Amino acid sequence: MLVVSLAGSPSQRSRSCVLLDVAGDWLRRRGIEVVSYGVRDFDAQDLLHARFDSPRVRQLIEHVTLADGLLIATPVYKASFSGALKALLDLLPERALAHKVVLPIASGGSVAHMLAVDYALKPVLAALKAEEMLHGVYAVDAQIRYAETQHPASLAPELQERLEESLQQLHAALARRPGPLDPGLLTDRLNNAQWSI
Ligand SMILES: Cc1cc2nc3c(=O)[nH]c(=O)nc-3n(C[C@H](O)[C@H](O)[C@H](O)COP(=O)(O)O)c2cc1C
Repeated sequence: MLVVSLAGSPSQRSRSCVLLDVAGDWLRRRGIEVVSYGVRDFDAQDLLHARFDSPRVRQLIEHVTLADGLLIATPVYKASFSGALKALLDLLPERALAHKVVLPIASGGSVAHMLAVDYALKPVLAALKAEEMLHGVYAVDAQIRYAETQHPASLAPELQERLEESLQQLHAALARRPGPLDPGLLTDRLNNAQWSI
C-alpha cells in the first residue's frame, strides 16, 4: 500500500507540514509506505513556467500514479489554499487522482476560513478525479507546536484526536480498495466459466 504525502506550504517552518508528518508517521506505523513531497522540493522556475517535463515533476506523477492514497496539506492563504500548491497541482495529468483516496489537511490563523478546504481545495481534487475524498482536517495555529531543541513537535489533544479519526477513515478506505488481480485466478475463472449464448 502506497500513500503520497504532499506539503503545500512554501514556508521552511510549516505548521501544516507538522500535521502531515504526524499523519505520515501514523500510517507508517501501520505498515503503509509513505513517500513525501513538498512544493519546496520543486524548482520555482518549473512551477512558474509550468514545466510538465521537469524530472522532479515526472517523478511525482509516477509516484501519484502508483499510489493508493494521497495526504495533502496546505496553509490557508487569502481564504484559499496556497498558490504554490495550485501551481504544482496544475502540472498533474487530468485524471491523476482517479481510483485514489484523498485526505485533505489545512492549517490557518483562525477558524474564519475553515471552509477553504471545501470550497477551494476539494473542487481542484475533484477535477483531478479523486475517487474518494475524506472530510478533511482543519487546524488553527494555536493547536500546533513546532519542534524545538527542547521538545518535539506536538498537537493539541483535541486536534490529535480529530486527525487520528480521519486517519482511521483513510486507513479503512485504503483497506477497502480492491487488490491487484491475480492472473492465475483470472485464468482459472475463465477456464471454468460456463458460457451460454
Ligand atoms: C500570505 C499569508 C496569507 C494568509 N492568509 C490567511 C487567511 O486568509 N486565513 C487564515 O486563517 N490564515 C491565513 N494565514 C495564516 C496561515 O494560514 C497559518 O499561519 C498557517 O498555519 C500557515 O501554515 P504553514 O506554517 O504550513 O505555512 C496566512 C498566512 C500567510 C503567510
